[in-house]
Amino acid sequence: MNFKTPVLELQGITKAYTKTTLLKQVKNEVLKGVNLTIKQGESVALMGPSGCGKTTLLKIILGIEKQDKGKVMILGKNTSEMNKITKKNILSKIGVIFQDPYSSLDPRQTVKDILSEPFVIHKKHFTKQTLEQALREVSLNEQDLEKYPHQFSGGQRQRINIARALILKPRLIIADEPTSALDVSVQAQIINLLTRMQNKYHFALLFISHSIALCKYLCQNIVSVQNGMLNKISGDEL
Ligand SMILES: Nc1ncnc2c1ncn2[C@@H]1O[C@H](COP(=O)(O)OP(=O)(O)O)[C@@H](O)[C@H]1O
Ligand SMILES: [Mg+2]
Repeated sequence: MNFKTPVLELQGITKAYTKTTLLKQVKNEVLKGVNLTIKQGESVALMGPSGCGKTTLLKIILGIEKQDKGKVMILGKNTSEMNKITKKNILSKIGVIFQDPYSSLDPRQTVKDILSEPFVIHKKHFTKQTLEQALREVSLNEQDLEKYPHQFSGGQRQRINIARALILKPRLIIADEPTSALDVSVQAQIINLLTRMQNKYHFALLFISHSIALCKYLCQNIVSVQNGMLNKISGDEL
């Protein structure tokens, strides 16, 4: 693997769900041959209206859902051909920020538990200083380590999510509508934080959003899901 190997490559991803209505079962073809390549340090925005399959694609990349057809390559390796340990290892190179900062943090875990969990799962060494440093980077402070998610605002919770996503220094960050559950006043702070972190750590970014303005602000390349396939959108079309 070298630095020219794409961080993420999707080839012909196809996925259908079965919808059960009162009378019959209907096939809901969500993704129909999605191709996408993201190189080191590149930012790609994935746009499209609600229900078009953006989160489904994220789940397929992470192996939470299985595609019907197609390949997911992470750092040049096909995830379907990996054993469990290699897959777990390769997934530690991807940090994810979910849409809802309320449901994505376990209310029974302290911030310390939340931030140390990735190290525990991936059997990596960390110290209290590592966690404190991670919190400071997202403008929270050391004392927050002992607190629980309900003691924070939505924006602060999303900062904790960002700290967790970044904690293993991933090569790719996938942010699934990271600001759509937040007040407008804090949205800009979260976007600025993401930009600042990307400038510092040079991770590739897959930014999922339905806001054209945000996609344009954050990403060089914009693709939209149309009829289950991705279309590249050029600057003039926006
Ligand atoms: N687990 C599931 N079972 C059945 N249908 C699903 C499931 N997950 C998503 N869908 C359907 O797939 C489509 C795409 O959903 P999703 O990927 O969440 O869209 P988006 O993130 O773009 O809003 C929707 O029609 C949704 O109802
Ligand atoms: Mg979604």
